Amino acid sequence: MTLTIRKIKEHLGAEVSGADLTKVTDDTVVAEIKAALDEHSVLVFRDQRFDDETQTAFSRSFGALEKMLYKAEGDGGIPISNISNVDYNTGQIYPPGHRRLKSNTGNEMWHTDSSFKPVPAYCSMLSGREVPPVGADTEFATCRGAYDALPEAERLRLDGLVAEHNYAWSRSKVPGYTPPPETLAEVPPVRHAVVRTNPATGRKNFYTGSHASHIIGWPVEKGRKLLEDLVAQATRPEFVYVHKWRQFDLVIWDNRCVLHRGTPYDSAKYRRVMRRTTVAGAGPTVSETGEVLAVA
Ligand code: OGA
Ligand code: MN
Repeated sequence: MTLTIRKIKEHLGAEVSGADLTKVTDDTVVAEIKAALDEHSVLVFRDQRFDDETQTAFSRSFGALEKMLYKAEGDGGIPISNISNVDYNTGQIYPPGHRRLKSNTGNEMWHTDSSFKPVPAYCSMLSGREVPPVGADTEFATCRGAYDALPEAERLRLDGLVAEHNYAWSRSKVPGYTPPPETLAEVPPVRHAVVRTNPATGRKNFYTGSHASHIIGWPVEKGRKLLEDLVAQATRPEFVYVHKWRQFDLVIWDNRCVLHRGTPYDSAKYRRVMRRTTVAGAGPTVSETGEVLAVA
């Protein structure tokens, strides 16, 4: 297999062709894809006919998969998320107002997957199995290009800061949705470095998103404003790639340095069935005593 990598935008994104990922067993191909991910942050592969089994097998070649927060629905415990308006068991579109439709809208805030966990995600892989003809794009924003573009004084101000990330906080912003108490009990607040460094490239970026609540040691409102200002910086048009889905696209993104969000669609009219696997990160971003780890 020879991969062809074509850059999509200056600061993020590349389309990769030449590989049938459902059949990849070769470590060198995986290493090449990881290197491309370090470089481009979001990788688009067209026409990858995954099912849940081949997707989890391919994803595992990148590292251990995260346990999903919500238990998989009748899939035999495969660590895969059903990002969908279609009931996994019945195959029917959820009726309007269904709890799952409300919880799905939480993905429409800029976020990075599982930043509410002590070890946050490395990358996510989203497979488009059924995609609506209009709407439901996924948008990606680079926190690396956006960090580089900050004035030096701003970058220095971020050094050494630690933020609290909290799933209860992000879900409190989702209209009409409250997670079950047993789910919230699984994810107490955690702390993460505000500036992260890619261990392979040495490139730095800031780390924020909907789960990021406030800065440790700062008044809550002041820290919240900083974290929101960083989201605004990352989502300037030049730092955003909008992915328009085709069926059987696989998109891989680097959760360590990009934010993403879903966009609305007519969920009463169109079926949208996406499956996501998430590869766990290498470790915590701050030490037990609260110091930022040099590389995480
Ligand atoms: C996700 C996610 C957005 C979308 O799967 O992690 O945020 O467009 N998805 O489905
Ligand atoms: Mn997500």
